Amino acid sequence: MARAKRKVEPKETTEALLGEERVFRPLPEVVIEANVSPKEYQEAMEKGLRDPEGFWEEAAEELDWFKKWDKVLDESDAPFYKWFVGAKCNIVYNAVDRHIKTHRKNKVAIIWQGEPPEQKKKLTYYELYRRVNKFANVLKSLGLKKGDRVAIYMPNLLETAIAMLGCAKLGVIHTVVYAGFSAMALRERVNDAKAKVIVTADGLYRNGKIINLKETVDEAMIECPTVEHVIVVQRTGQPIDMSDGRYLWWHDLMEGVSDECETEVLDSEHPLYILYTSGTTGKPKGILHVHGGYMVGIHRTLKWVFDLKETDIYWCAADVGWVTGHSYIVYGPLICGGTTVMYEGHPLYPKPDRMWQIIDKFGINILYTAPTTIRMLMRFGAELPRRHSLKTLRLLGTVGEPINPEAWVWYYENVGRERCPIMDTWWQTETGMFMITPLPVALLKPGSATKPFPGIHADVVDKEGKPVPAGKGGFLVVKHPWPSMLRTLWGDPERYKKQYWEVIPGVYTTGDVARRDEDGYFWIQGRADDVMNIAGHRVGTAEVESAFVAHKAVAEAACIGVPDPVKGEVAKVFVILKKGYEPSDALDKELRQHVRHELGPIVIIKSIEFVDSLPKTRSGKIMRRVLKAREMGIDPGDLTTLAD
Ligand code: WTA
Repeated sequence: MARAKRKVEPKETTEALLGEERVFRPLPEVVIEANVSPKEYQEAMEKGLRDPEGFWEEAAEELDWFKKWDKVLDESDAPFYKWFVGAKCNIVYNAVDRHIKTHRKNKVAIIWQGEPPEQKKKLTYYELYRRVNKFANVLKSLGLKKGDRVAIYMPNLLETAIAMLGCAKLGVIHTVVYAGFSAMALRERVNDAKAKVIVTADGLYRNGKIINLKETVDEAMIECPTVEHVIVVQRTGQPIDMSDGRYLWWHDLMEGVSDECETEVLDSEHPLYILYTSGTTGKPKGILHVHGGYMVGIHRTLKWVFDLKETDIYWCAADVGWVTGHSYIVYGPLICGGTTVMYEGHPLYPKPDRMWQIIDKFGINILYTAPTTIRMLMRFGAELPRRHSLKTLRLLGTVGEPINPEAWVWYYENVGRERCPIMDTWWQTETGMFMITPLPVALLKPGSATKPFPGIHADVVDKEGKPVPAGKGGFLVVKHPWPSMLRTLWGDPERYKKQYWEVIPGVYTTGDVARRDEDGYFWIQGRADDVMNIAGHRVGTAEVESAFVAHKAVAEAACIGVPDPVKGEVAKVFVILKKGYEPSDALDKELRQHVRHELGPIVIIKSIEFVDSLPKTRSGKIMRRVLKAREMGIDPGDLTTLAD
């Protein structure tokens, strides 16, 4: 066996989870086959440090441009950085057009799996090309022009990808709004972007139920003055009212439209999409990404980190409504010429082994999902994945929050069968691409996203921007621009400047707290605002939660800091128990002992509350803000991103 595993000893301090001692080595076959060898990885790291522009320029050379750049990076108007200045390109040329001139023309580009198990579709690059052209022609016929905005309010459907690509082809800016958002949230985003068109579906399948999307759009449309047309995809076929003249069926519009359409030649800095993300204030921030630098960043990271091969079937189990879906379901895999799987439904429908069943059904090689999903699946026991072969899997990935070592190891052993390295990718809507992440050849430590990707100058610093020593917590920052970075906040350049570049002057503030260990591995502790200060000790709520879920009785945990007159802050923890466990005083006591044992006495737990569910965003992140507000009897602000 080629993995090195050292025994973990119980630790007495808060460094417990950060001091995770297990190191996992990739199997020799993974190393031999990797797109980037250990030596190349080392060289890229050195080059990225010494000459980031040179590193990214090489990455850009792998893509197709209508005209090459005059300059790689323009810093003259910092922090409004520009990449590949003077270049002309279009991301759609790279994601679709160029493949149909190659052996990939008839290769499957997207495998779509509906929630009803019998519904699946496959689309080749040539078919995708023609549909994207048709949809772009539809947009043109509705009067859309370069720079206009289109809102896409849809679940994971083939049409969602086609709509995104159709917009980008013309230089129209899309803003995908997660289909679980409320009418109010949709309206707010549509109005902020001043979208002229909304693309939606009649409904969607979720957990065996049909959810009517059109009704939500109707409600949003009461106050969407800029919207001229709503294009409706017929997904579920339930009867809906289409009498309003602004509503048009997708299939009617696509009928008889030409399948040829010129791809717009765009400036490399031309906006590609706006994606709204929650800020600390409650008003969503419109993160703006552009064609040129973005395609360079996601292409290089996907090819290197997920080691995408020509024959691979790759499944990113996210929703297109989030940045993960943009970068790593749609644009990234298609630019790489890969086969990307898009699943419409709930991971537990019709049974909790749905994900394992999908992997075997298509012979998936790479699976990318979130810690919250892994923990949810863990609740059903290891027998479920064990009942499936999963033999085609080669690589695993996670994103979205720190993964607790227990979930990491469960994923590694029961899904990856101890042969698939886990790529724990740290990044943000703002960064566009993976920033701190291993490559398949790296040594892995469960719970650490390892090191910055080559060309990314990440650091852990104090309030003044001074690097903190190894083992100490601090603010995670990025000290040099990168090509797929956000360019601004839509309509609010001041907020962009203030929030990201002036908190610690001159560097990009991620808003996360992290530590780096002696080996230079980064351990993300969570958001800066999710960190408690207990008697002067900084304790990440994520650390406490990780300690809780390491206990055999705990399925999920959410921790908040609550004020304490003596200690400043103490922890309150909400716990969901695994099947077969009941709340009791004895269990309460046992959990406290366990956590004291895991994290040491400085984590003072005020109380443990056993609950049946936790407030989460639609993307599965626990909303500690809501728990905290409830606890303290204050208004939690805009809660439209809540799932429950
Ligand atoms: C958190 C998702 C630890 C982090 C791509 C970040 C992570 C925020 C990880 C961005 C990870 C994401 N380990 N924490 N691997 N990945 N995060 O914008 O707090 O939805 O700032 O982008 O999620 O969330 P967003």
